[in-house]
Amino acid sequence: MTGNVRPAEMKRITTPELAQAFIDEQISELKAQIGDKKVLLALSGGVDSSVVAALLIKAVGDQLVCVHVNHGLLRKGEPEQVIKVFRDELGAQLIYVDAVDRFLDKLAGVTDPERKRKIIGKEFIDVFAEEARKLDGIEFLGQGTIYPDILESKDGIKAHHNVGGMPEEFDFELVEPVKLLYKDEVRVVGKQLGLPDNMVYRQPFPGPGLGVRCVGAITRDRLEALREADAIVREEIGKLDETPWQYFAVIPDMQSTGIKDNKRYMGWSAVIRAINTVDAVTAESVVLPWETLRTIRDRIIAEVPGVNRVLWDMSDKPVSTIEWE
Ligand code: XMP
Repeated sequence: MTGNVRPAEMKRITTPELAQAFIDEQISELKAQIGDKKVLLALSGGVDSSVVAALLIKAVGDQLVCVHVNHGLLRKGEPEQVIKVFRDELGAQLIYVDAVDRFLDKLAGVTDPERKRKIIGKEFIDVFAEEARKLDGIEFLGQGTIYPDILESKDGIKAHHNVGGMPEEFDFELVEPVKLLYKDEVRVVGKQLGLPDNMVYRQPFPGPGLGVRCVGAITRDRLEALREADAIVREEIGKLDETPWQYFAVIPDMQSTGIKDNKRYMGWSAVIRAINTVDAVTAESVVLPWETLRTIRDRIIAEVPGVNRVLWDMSDKPVSTIEWE
């Protein structure tokens, strides 16, 4: 796809037919652009990179090399699903990098949210670049850039390259097949490509992942508790007929007194956050049914070691941001 401006006549992709037409067009464009060369793609499991991977697999098959970096801050079941869908079902060449210890060692004792984000971002580039160096003959870098990324980078709000900051030694040409699409269109295309619903309709999830929800210095035990509590919150709220725009768990670095087996039991508090928003610039805390809250409370207390209290974050944005860090 050439040019960074969406043509005025480009139809919004809202139906399977329009999605299929887009897919067919992209496959022939990708084939022409890439020829018999190799493409590298950082595959996070998010909808944008997943759609790009699925398009590239259709277009150039095993000339695509996907790298999935597990930084330890992904949600429960995510790395497993990436391997299952892309390696096992779609037959992609997928390099899985278990970088959990590496990230968590670097993050040990770090409390400042911005430093945490910087460490995670830099470490990600380092791990990805190390993998790229091991490979021969890569000429292209696939990216899940979407149209809002381009608009925002034009306005100077953020740099649009998802894997921006790759060291200069890499002279990759970018392959960005969904760069003129809005998020809802990427989802329609993903669905048409046969990706699973929980990948296509995935909630927004920050790059630094659970790192910004394991508030304060990240420890492995609290991170594990957060991963479990988050899975319960998503599973239970996901059962509602109408689900909020974003919902997840947070576990701050704070303990309070509890009682278990007639003994004092110091534990963490798991916080439930559920918001509705249009653009994430402002957001409203969602009123959840008491039965849902109660089930979440009971399950977290019964199933998540180390948690002895469940709280509900009823704050709106502003003044509270959606994420806690
Ligand atoms: P805040 O916390 O600023 O979040 O109210 C607004 C929306 O952005 C998401 N978010 C991020 N997304 N990288 C991302 O890709 C990040 O570092 C990041 N931080 C926040 C957040 O989940 C919410 O949807």
